[in-house]
Amino acid sequence: MTKNIHIRTFGCQMNQADTEIISSLLQEQGYRMTGSEDDADLVILNTCAVRENAVGKIMNMLDNLKGKRRIRPDLLVGVIGCVPQYYREKLFDMTDGIDFLAGPDTYRQLPMLIENAEQGVRGAHLASVPEETYTGIEPLRSGSISAFIPVMRGCNNRCAFCVVPMTRGRERNRSMKTVIDEAGRLAEKGYREITLLGQNVNSYRDDEAGCDFAGLLEHVARAARGVRIRFTTSHPKDLSESLVGVIAREKNICNSIHLPVQSGSTRMLGLMNRGHSREEYLEKIAMIRRSIPDVTISSDLIAGFCGESEEDHRQTLSLMEKVRFDFSYMFCYSVRPGTYAAKRMEDDVPDEVKKRRLEEIIALQNRISAERHAAEVGKTVEVLAESESKRSSDMLMGRTPENRVVVFDRGQSNPGDLVRVKIHASTSATLVGRPQ
Ligand code: SAM
Ligand code: SF4
Ligand code: F3S
Repeated sequence: MTKNIHIRTFGCQMNQADTEIISSLLQEQGYRMTGSEDDADLVILNTCAVRENAVGKIMNMLDNLKGKRRIRPDLLVGVIGCVPQYYREKLFDMTDGIDFLAGPDTYRQLPMLIENAEQGVRGAHLASVPEETYTGIEPLRSGSISAFIPVMRGCNNRCAFCVVPMTRGRERNRSMKTVIDEAGRLAEKGYREITLLGQNVNSYRDDEAGCDFAGLLEHVARAARGVRIRFTTSHPKDLSESLVGVIAREKNICNSIHLPVQSGSTRMLGLMNRGHSREEYLEKIAMIRRSIPDVTISSDLIAGFCGESEEDHRQTLSLMEKVRFDFSYMFCYSVRPGTYAAKRMEDDVPDEVKKRRLEEIIALQNRISAERHAAEVGKTVEVLAESESKRSSDMLMGRTPENRVVVFDRGQSNPGDLVRVKIHASTSATLVGRPQ
């Protein structure tokens, strides 16, 4: 009988939030969730398919688990999330040692899949369930300071490079009321930070309540006064002035926006099907900075998408110089079979060119991040302490409302505390300070 389950989570914050939903669902069925693979009877990999190397990581993990199964033949292995949804039952043929598969819409079937696996019956549940939002399942949260609330699932956009619409299906929204109630409960429990999640939160709608994302964010901020409110991810084409107005007005909504641009070239943005030009993006940035002068803005950037010329690449570098992102996630383009780009476009930028362009993007971002951080030295900032710093238990690590990472002398503070910290040094990744 399977008793102890260990879930390893890969990929984006939606997957992290799903793991908390699944943990709750399985715990309710009598299973015990364990943080260690060694005392698990079942290991579940909650997976990501967004780039080829993400899938490679899962394959390595599965090889590793196959080795463990030679020593412990009764150890069960399930693979769930975006990889099985993308490869479907073919995944069973790609590697052995998998007992069951489930996709992002079928986690309610997990208890049944596990029971069958215990009987030696291999199974897969990969249907798309367009209305599934897992409403009614209170996530089993891993931390007690910060919490995710998924407000929507799926994505209706069709960015040419992206598998997410294939793995997570059409957009569906939770009702405004369930989100606000959950935020209120988290505030009562003492959580200090809430992040509203969706692949494209700006297209959130609750038609019955007549509420868009700006409205939802405002209600959540009011239902959880004193709690820091964040949200991700915003798509530039849907980011509205009314949303920016809400962020500027409500003091507990953090002044930090993740607004992925992917490329600085209008031609590439067109090929990527992002739905906006370079100029429109820059106008949005100007609009945000007019309303929220101390805002931090972060991005995702892709180097070497199909057809990208040196001039397109220079446009990306020049957009980065203009916007001066505080932080970016940066990737080489990775062809994903089944996407529009894989079917209709040529992956014609050689690997070494992609890598060189990515290195240039990373070097520039590091320089800009370092400069922006250096400008914080001498200021006093409010930090929500999250944990002990990796280097020393005498230091704590936390974040400012603008999402800047701060490491500071611990003094009398503990994780969960809001601490005023004077910054005395900085690197491209971190601010260093002392409590005031
Ligand atoms: N929904 C979010 C958005 O539109 O910005 C992001 C979702 S995606 C999971 C996260 C990031 O992965 C994207 O912003 C993009 O930069 C990157 N990404 C997606 N597909 C990719 C691919 N085929 N190759 C390289 N990077 C990719
Ligand atoms: Fe992918 Fe584009 Fe949807 Fe983001 S908005 S999840 S990049 S298709
Ligand atoms: Fe990856 Fe799926 Fe998220 S493909 S990035 S885990 S939605």
